[in-house]
Order: sequence, then structure tokens, then C-alpha cells
Amino acid sequence: MRKASNAAALVALLIVAVAAAAGAMRLCGVERSAVDACRPYCKVKSAQPSPSPACCDKVKAAQWDCLCQFKGSLPDDINATRIMDLQYKCKCDNPPATCSDD
Ligand SMILES: *[C@@H]1O[C@H](CO)[C@@H](O)[C@H](O)[C@H]1NC(C)=O
Repeated sequence: MRKASNAAALVALLIVAVAAAAGAMRLCGVERSAVDACRPYCKVKSAQPSPSPACCDKVKAAQWDCLCQFKGSLPDDINATRIMDLQYKCKCDNPPATCSDD
């Protein structure tokens, strides 16, 4: 897996992990609905200028250390640049933790 940026990977896996947690209401501080709220902005070819407030709310609550365990799959239809933008556009107080890559 490419090492692009830990932050991008983390937010991406946030989206993926929560999507994969079928049935779970909450995973690592992130609600299932965060996927629906954030995916439209993060998708490749998205025309949205900024993530929705609902998305930002849920991203802010993420427990990044917890999400690291779900790392491993970044879907091709997710734009990493936009994922990177999430933490800035949402003004996350706590920058994503770093997952060890190896
Ligand atoms: C990803 O998002 C960035 C920023 O919005 C945009 O400039 C770029 O063209 C996008 N890339 C793809 C493959 O959609």
C-alpha cells in the first residue's frame, strides 16, 4: 500500500472502516452516518466545494488510534486530496494520529 500521507490514509480508513461496520451504530467515535455525510465530498469526481457540516461533526469525533486497526483498504473511488482537506476544512482540533505502516 502506498504511503501517501498518514492523515489521508486515516481519514480514508475512517470512511471505509465505518462503512464496513455494517450494523454498528458507532465505531471508533464515528457514527455510521458519517460515511453518508462525508462520502459525497471525498469521492473522485465530486463537485462538492466543501464537506457538509454533518460530515465535519462526525470526523471531529473520530478516535484515530482506534481507526488504525482497520487500515488496509482504500477504495479507488475516494479522492485522497479531498480526504486530506477534511481535517482542514473541518478545522479538526486534534490532527489525526499516526498509524505505523509496518
Ligand atoms: C481530487 O480533489 C482535488 C481537490 O478538489 C481535485 O483538484 C482533483 O482534481 C481531484 N482528483 C480527482 C481524480 O478527482
